[in-house]
Amino acid sequence: MNYYEPEKRKHLGVYYTPRPVVNFIVNSVHSILKQYFDKPLGLADDSVNVLDPAIGTGTFFWISFLVALGELKNQGLQGIIFDKIRDHLLKHFYGFEILITPYVISHLKLIDLLQRWHYIFRNDDRIQVYLTNTLEPSEVHTLLPFLREITEESRIANQIKLRKPILVVMGNPPYAGLSANKGKWIDDLLKKGYTHADGTKDDGYYKVDGKPLGERKLWLQDDYVKFIRYAQWKIDKNGEGIVGFITNHSYLDNPTFRGMRESLLQSFDRIYILNLHGNALKKEKCPDGSKDENVFDIKQGVAIGIFIKSKK
Ligand SMILES: C[S@@+](CC[C@H](N)C(=O)[O-])C[C@H]1O[C@@H](n2cnc3c(N)ncnc32)[C@H](O)[C@@H]1O
Repeated sequence: MNYYEPEKRKHLGVYYTPRPVVNFIVNSVHSILKQYFDKPLGLADDSVNVLDPAIGTGTFFWISFLVALGELKNQGLQGIIFDKIRDHLLKHFYGFEILITPYVISHLKLIDLLQRWHYIFRNDDRIQVYLTNTLEPSEVHTLLPFLREITEESRIANQIKLRKPILVVMGNPPYAGLSANKGKWIDDLLKKGYTHADGTKDDGYYKVDGKPLGERKLWLQDDYVKFIRYAQWKIDKNGEGIVGFITNHSYLDNPTFRGMRESLLQSFDRIYILNLHGNALKKEKCPDGSKDENVFDIKQGVAIGIFIKSKK
């Protein structure tokens, strides 16, 4: 992907997620499902719906499938692997991607992995990765025959985006200082908030203690903030669940994000943060004084956030 349209790549935040980061997030989610959500098979449990809203080349699902299939093997359940792939991995793992190249790669990579596990694809099987803009739900009503397949893809993507109950949202949302996604839907979600299932009100990221932030809030328009907001909303709607993201780390301490931090603390019972630093803009250094390298080829420091909401 490095050679593919470099400007577009930068603009849309297309960077591979390093494998150790993906391993860490996927394995954390797998253990949390077992420990706090009563899912003895973790990611291999049929009742676990997973969404990667910025799937890129599919690395999170690639590792998730390996972890899920490995769990079955470890528990002596090899006999159900074929059914598990057909009825769970190909049904309950949803991904969204805005660019065609990573979208195609994610399909090819995941198909290849499952075939290595001797899965034989049937005509109606598909990897549930859709070509769509996660932050712009749009209903398509065209009935032109040659557009039928695209229309159908968009209709299903919208249905998952807005209505499908999701227990786990994970991934690596794009890095883009100023978002091009300024649609009303995501803007309302950020600014107006919504009502939780228990009737309490979420005020959005532009208020703190019920009062407007009263400052220029340009950083709240970053795409990564919008993806966190979308993931939070999905889990709130479901009433329980986990978000596992690696993102820009500025929401951790920048004063502009106090409304966002308050809102996240209201939605989730437990929040684990692993700050990986690497902020060249702040000239961060390691404790021993050596250069603090970023895990990506970017200047912005990053952090892994694991957010857990339980029903209790
Ligand atoms: C940091 S990359 C994810 C990399 C992925 N985890 C991997 O290892 O290949 C972010 C991805 O989000 C996609 N993206 C950016 N904006 C998007 C949007 N609004 N909706 C859906 N996908 C988007 C980019 O095209 C890119 O592939």
